[in-house]
Amino acid sequence: MAAVLIWISLLVGLLAGLGGTEVQQTTLHPLVGRVFVHTLDRENFLHLPELVVAVPATVPITYHAHLQGHPDLPRWLRYAQRSPHQPGFLYGTATPADRGRQVIEVTAYNRDRFDTTRQRLVLLIGDPEGPLLPYQAEFLVRSHDVEEVLPSTPAGRFLTALGGLWEPGELQLLNITSALDRGGRVPLPIEGRKEGVYIKVGSASPFSTCLKMVASPDSQARCAQGQPPLLSCYDTLAPHFRVDWCNVSLVDKSVPEPADEVPTPGDGILEHDPFFCPPTEATAREFLTDALVTLLVPLLVALLLTLLLAYVMCCRREGRLKRDLATSE
Ligand SMILES: *[C@@H]1O[C@H](CO)[C@@H](O)[C@H](O)[C@H]1NC(C)=O
Ligand SMILES: *[C@@H]1O[C@H](CO)[C@@H](O)[C@H](O)[C@H]1NC(C)=O
Repeated sequence: MAAVLIWISLLVGLLAGLGGTEVQQTTLHPLVGRVFVHTLDRENFLHLPELVVAVPATVPITYHAHLQGHPDLPRWLRYAQRSPHQPGFLYGTATPADRGRQVIEVTAYNRDRFDTTRQRLVLLIGDPEGPLLPYQAEFLVRSHDVEEVLPSTPAGRFLTALGGLWEPGELQLLNITSALDRGGRVPLPIEGRKEGVYIKVGSASPFSTCLKMVASPDSQARCAQGQPPLLSCYDTLAPHFRVDWCNVSLVDKSVPEPADEVPTPGDGILEHDPFFCPPTEATAREFLTDALVTLLVPLLVALLLTLLLAYVMCCRREGRLKRDLATSE
């Protein structure tokens, strides 16, 4: 009886131990063509059952994320963390090719004690519902770093502020990229200088005249000369978001692009074409004389030269006699 009790307690302990080391798993649902942001918070990692001692909030933490079975993240997903005291972000926009299930493994490192905690993110990437967003605009926000617009509060504020410039309609974030990933430079460490971030927004309602004007060729021409562009409306994004109005790009996908025609192989014979003029008929020509002249003239010249040389060498040699005469005994 006692032996059985010991066995049971051992077994329970073993199972509890196994449960404790199990990697925490979270399921997320990114949408194709819409921006996806996941915050890697210390709370998510440090309040796990296996961490007996609570980790103080000042401990620096870094993260490493990779696609399960691969050394790096999938192409559409990026990782950003400003400093070990701030949260990390996984962000990006899935493309139609990424549809399906992707498993991201995240390891958090406690930089003081070098503990690690692992978490598994199961991404079930699906298609978005709702209307298509054929009107897409991209803005370069110079006053922010990418991490500063990834949390939902500033992102929502950007959309609300942008609503004042666009026709009222549902605006959605499509893509967020750091300007550094698009050829931007790291700013000088001067107060208020930021890396800049590109924010792409989509809507079902057409662009406002104000936006169209900003992106018009006239405006671009002014920008090229270093002048401010034509902004015909009140900049509702200022002062919180400093948008580079010279770098707004509008994409209108409401007109479907003509599908590429599949080339069909023909029979290889040209149809009658009034503009096709075949080369004129070539008349027969005699090439014998040309060939003979080409061959015989050089031959004759060569023969003459040979004869001349032979004559000079054989009949006109005076070297030996001359030498003998000139040399004393
Ligand atoms: C998002 O923006 C980045 C950088 O411009 C680009 O490489 C990527 O293809 C975009 N994603 C989508 C789904 O358009
Ligand atoms: C504006 O964006 C384009 C790419 O879209 C880039 O080549 C250009 O350098 C940007 N201009 C400025 C002033 O950042």
